[in-house]
Order: sequence, then structure tokens, then C-alpha cells
Amino acid sequence: MTNLKLIACGMGLPKKVVTNEDMAKTVDTSDEWIYTRTGIRARRFCDEGESNFTMALEAAKNAIAAAGITPDEIGCVVCATFTPDYLTPSLACLLQLHLGLSEDIPALDVNSACTGFIYATTVARGFLDQSDREYALVLGVEQLSRVVDMTDRATCVLFGDGGAAAIYKKSESAAFDSFLGAKGSTEITCGGISREIVPSPLWMNGKEVFRFAVGAMYRCITDLMERNQLTWEDVDHVVCHQANARIIDRCIHKLKAPEEKFYKNMDHLGNTSAASIPLAIAELEEAGRIKAGDKLLLIGFGGGLTWGGALITYGGK
Ligand code: UT7
Repeated sequence: MTNLKLIACGMGLPKKVVTNEDMAKTVDTSDEWIYTRTGIRARRFCDEGESNFTMALEAAKNAIAAAGITPDEIGCVVCATFTPDYLTPSLACLLQLHLGLSEDIPALDVNSACTGFIYATTVARGFLDQSDREYALVLGVEQLSRVVDMTDRATCVLFGDGGAAAIYKKSESAAFDSFLGAKGSTEITCGGISREIVPSPLWMNGKEVFRFAVGAMYRCITDLMERNQLTWEDVDHVVCHQANARIIDRCIHKLKAPEEKFYKNMDHLGNTSAASIPLAIAELEEAGRIKAGDKLLLIGFGGGLTWGGALITYGGK
């Protein structure tokens, strides 16, 4: 099967920054509680005129421009989201319409919550394998402010809105691996069309999910490194889902891993579910901290419960 390399990213973030102090004006919380438990200081929320789709469109346009390709070169579009504007058309089809992508390519949304970007990357690899085209457009986008109960302090302080897009290119030589897992569970729920099983807003059994997340992260990293015979010398960046700084720190400690290789951005973006991994890569790129040939481990875990790991190579522009 064809390998992929990531050649460019783009972000689409809402303008409104909401700090912990802002949150403390509406629910019984404090910057001290939120920061020490999670590492979060601020998040972005969509405002009037912004939505899952507008963030996705901006991110996709930025990624396509950064990659220096034209929309008709794209062989598939896969969007990871569980907060799309519409159940149908999918976000992927909306992007196809607004970006002028070709009509004969697959376009679909993937719902694997916070692991979505790893699932979407794996799906895109399968599509590109059967395509004559060279490039895949893969997004992680969430408007979590739409599904969070803003009166529930246990959840509303954790999440933020955002989107990011990646352009992958087929590559013979790039190191690539991914694996996915799931264990059906209702420890994280968000009501959809049927509201009978769970209350509608996003709900999470924080303590259980914390335990699961540390274990899943540890397993994903050790499995990826073993399968690909990697040492820490070979890994340039580890980009984990940005749910909680304590989860990442716990895992670094357990693995005795080099802390500086683990990127964190939840301090200013909060937990953006499927968007958190591509947003982190886009920030690394924007800061000039990532160079052609770098190897990244991407680690996702979350609602489903799902998990996944990917080894990807950054190809540069
Ligand atoms: O993205 C999907 C994956 N998600 C995750 O990986 C999240 C995993 N879980 C976590 O990150 C943590 O469990 C949380 C950050 C969600 C919660 O931290 P915790 O240390 O597990 O806190 P807790 O839920 O046990 O709550 C401790 C106390 C409670 O008060 P009592 O019962 O001890 O009096 C809560 O009512 O903190 C209280 N509390 C708050 N206090 C101030 C809960 N939320 C808040 C708040 N401000 N926002």
C-alpha cells in the first residue's frame, strides 16, 4: 500500500479568545483550578458568522496554498468531526463544493471523536492507494462550544473550537505506519438525533477517561516504536491529543521519554477534540520547529472509546 508524507498544514481558528477568568464569570471555577488540573489557560469559541464549516474552509484553503497545489490535484477529502454543521451534506462534501474539488473523488466525514485525525489519515491512505491523484486533504475540525453545556463547570472549561487541515502526498520512501483501536463505551457521550440514551450535551466520566487515556497513550507510543524499531533518537516530535497536560506528563514519566519532544498547546486552545493533533502540527510548522524528513508520532484517544497511533514523515513544502 502507498505511504503518505505530510507536506503542509493550515489552521482555521475562531477569533474570540475566552480565558479562564472569563469562564469564572459564568460558572463557579477559577484559573487556578482549571490550570492546575488541565494545563488550560484559554480557548477559542466561535462567534456570530463562524462555525465548523467556516473554520474548515479557512484551514483547507490555507493548507492548499501552503502546499502549492491546485484543488483539482486532490484525490480525496476526509474530515474528522463530530460537530458538523449538517448531518448531510457532510463537511467533506461542503468543502468539495466550496473549494471546487473534482467530482470523481471520495469525500466523507469520520466520527472517531478525539482520535478522528488518526482515523481520517488512515482512511485517506486507503483512498489514495486506489487513486491516480497524488494528494489527500485531511481535516480535524470541531465546534465544541455548540455541544457543551455552558452551565456545567466540569466540562465547559475543558473544550474549545478550532480546525486544521493537512495535505498528504503519496510517497514511496516516507516512513508511515498507523493503527487504530476502539472499545465500545459510554464514558464520553454527546447526544445526537436520539436523546434517549444520554443527556444531550457533551458528558464525560473524567476520572475513568483519564485512566483510559494514560494507558492508551502509553500503549500507542510503545507499540508504534516497537513496530517500527524506533528509539527516541529517531523521533523528532510526539503530537498527542491535547486533552490535559497531566495525561501527557504522566505518560512521559511512565515512558521515561524526552519531555521536549512532546508538543503541548492546550494552554491557549483547550481540548479541541479531532482538531487538536493537526492544530498542534500546524503550530509546529508555523513556528519553524519542524523540518523536511522529521518523524512524528501522532497519538489520539477519546470518545468511543477510540485510540490510534500514526508514524508520519514531514515532507516540507
Ligand atoms: O478529549 C477526550 C479525552 N478526555 C480526557 O482525556 C479527559 C480526562 N479527564 C480529565 O482530564 C480530568 O478528569 C478532568 C480535568 C476532567 C477533571 O479533573 P479531576 O481531577 O478528575 O477532577 P474531578 O472531576 O474529580 O473533580 C474534583 C473536584 C470536584 O469537587 P469535589 O467533589 O471534590 O468537591 C468537582 O466538583 O473539582 C470540582 N470541579 C471543579 N471545581 C472548580 C469540577 N470541575 C470544576 C471546575 N472548577 N471547573
